[in-house]
Amino acid sequence: MFKIGILTISDRCSCGMREDKSGEAIRGIVTTRIDSEIIQYEIVPDDKEIIAQKLIEMADVTGCELVLTTGGTGFSPRDVTPEATSMVIEKNVPGLAEVMRFASLKITPHAMLSRAIAGIRKQCLIVNLPGSPKGAAECLDVIMPALPHGLNILRGNVGDCGYID
Ligand code: MTE
Repeated sequence: MFKIGILTISDRCSCGMREDKSGEAIRGIVTTRIDSEIIQYEIVPDDKEIIAQKLIEMADVTGCELVLTTGGTGFSPRDVTPEATSMVIEKNVPGLAEVMRFASLKITPHAMLSRAIAGIRKQCLIVNLPGSPKGAAECLDVIMPALPHGLNILRGNVGDCGYID
């Protein structure tokens, strides 16, 4: 069972002005598609330091193996999720962001406006998803088939994966 964290990044949701439908959409998809447990779920404002500190807590203290963020990946002056994520990751995982944008472009040209990144901090994979429930669900859907294998490698459970039939 994989230990998952969901971090909703939104000024409006953090002060109760908007319901967090994206976090709920992510929870529904992850828990039905992979053997997982949501061990931490938080909503924070679009503040780089607060986001970075929360990501560190989720990875290092709570022990999340996968943290899915939603929101703050666009062009608004307050959008700083990729920058906060860059501050805390040790390894970049460009393929996840590439495939999310590539697949999403078939749905909307606005997909190219997401600056989402993904990366690894210690034994935790952090993936940025767009802020809308639809966008978050569409992007998560695309990367889901590869996540269990990636998380198992991160755990050290898989060795010569290229040799597995
Ligand atoms: N990706 C998918 N699959 N579906 C979408 O509807 N919306 C886009 C893009 N990525 C979208 C998407 C839009 S409109 C924006 S502005 C960017 O994600 C950034 O969104 P964010 O700032 O809410 O993170």
